[in-house]
Amino acid sequence: MNKKVLVTGGAGYVGLELIENLLNKSFQVICYDTFLYNNISTVKKFKNKNFQYIRSDIRDSKTLSKILPQVNTVIHLAAIVGDLPCKVIPNLSYEINFLSTISLAKLCKKYGVEKFIFASTCSNYGIINSDISAKEDSELNPISLYAETKIDSELKLKKIANKNMHIICLRFGTAFGISHRTRFDLLLNSLLFEAMEYKSILVHSLDTWRPYIHVSDMANIIHALLNKTFKDNFIIFNAGFTSLNYKKREIVQKIKRILPNLTVKIASDQTDFRNYRVDFSKIEKVINLKPEKDVEKGIIEFIKKYKSGKINKNTYVESNLKSLQNYLKKNEKFLKFKK
Ligand SMILES: NC(=O)c1ccc[n+]([C@@H]2O[C@H](COP(=O)([O-])OP(=O)(O)OC[C@H]3O[C@@H](n4cnc5c(N)ncnc54)[C@H](O)[C@@H]3O)[C@@H](O)[C@H]2O)c1
Repeated sequence: MNKKVLVTGGAGYVGLELIENLLNKSFQVICYDTFLYNNISTVKKFKNKNFQYIRSDIRDSKTLSKILPQVNTVIHLAAIVGDLPCKVIPNLSYEINFLSTISLAKLCKKYGVEKFIFASTCSNYGIINSDISAKEDSELNPISLYAETKIDSELKLKKIANKNMHIICLRFGTAFGISHRTRFDLLLNSLLFEAMEYKSILVHSLDTWRPYIHVSDMANIIHALLNKTFKDNFIIFNAGFTSLNYKKREIVQKIKRILPNLTVKIASDQTDFRNYRVDFSKIEKVINLKPEKDVEKGIIEFIKKYKSGKINKNTYVESNLKSLQNYLKKNEKFLKFKK
C-alpha cells in the first residue's frame, strides 16, 4: 500500500488528531489547509520527516493539481463546520462544503487517487422518531444548511465514484474531547467549559438523542478504513459506536457524577431541534473497533486539561465562530476567491 495521504482541513479539530495518528503509524501525510483558525504554529510542531503541510485553499485547483499525483488516498475534512457558521456565511459554506468537494473529487479521479474518504455527518438525519435508530438508508431530514451541503455532496460523490476511485462517506456523530485544536461549539466540550468556568450549566432540550464520539476515535475509524477494500465503488457508513447514543439528560448526569457540586439549570426553550439515535452496526461489523475513549474518559480528560491552565477564555474564543468571522474580516480574498 502507498502510505502517502493528503488530509484536507488537516489543521482542524479532527485533522490534527488524525495526522498525529497516521504519523505514528508511519504514513506519509500532507496537510492541506488555509488555517482559518490561525493555528499554523500547531502544525509546525509536527517535526516528522513524513509530514508536510501546504497552506492553500481547496478551491485552488492549480495547487491541488501539483499535489494529487503524489498521493493515492485523500481524506477530505476541510469545510465550514457546524450549523451556526454555515448559517452566518451561507454562500461561502455552500461553495466550500459542496462545490469544492465535488471539484476536488473530480480532480482526484483525474490524477489517479484510488480512495477518497469524505467526512459527512449524522446531522443529515436531523430529526427522527427516537424509537428508531437511523441506518445508512434511513430517510434524511436535514434541518441546517450544514447538513444539506453534506447530503448534496454525498449524492454527487456517488456519481463520481468508479472502480478506479472508491469513495467512502463517513457520517460521524457529535465529537467530544481534546485535540490540538479543541472545538468548544460541540455539545459536551461546551458544557464542560461552562461547568469549569462558571460552576453552572444551562441545558436545553434534555430529552434529545445524539451519538457521541471522541475525536481520537474518529481518527481510529479513518485509519482502520485506509487498509480496507470494498467491492462497492461508493459506500456510506454511520461512523461511531452504537453504545455511545445518549439523551442529553444522560450526558448531564455523567458530568454531574464527576462534578457533584455543579449547578444545572434547565432552559425551557429549545435552541437545537436535532434529535437522532444512530445505528452503527454496519461499520462495527467491518472494522471491529471499540471506543478507545467513552464519554466519562472525555469528561475527565477535559477537566484535567482545564485545570492545567491550557484551556481558558482565550482558547475558547480562538476556536469558535468569532475567530472565523475575524479571519474573514481580515482576509477578503478568502470570500472572493478566484480560481
Ligand atoms: N467535529 C465533529 O463533531 C464532526 C462531526 C461530523 C462531521 N465532521 C466533519 O469532519 C470534518 C472536520 O471537522 P472539524 O471538527 O475538524 O472542523 P474544523 O473547523 O476544526 O476543521 C476544518 C478545517 O478546514 C479548514 N478549511 C476550511 N475551509 C477551507 C478551505 N476552503 N480550504 C482549505 N482548508 C479549509 C479550516 O481551516 C479547518 O482547519 C468536517 O468536514 C466536518 O463536517 C465533524
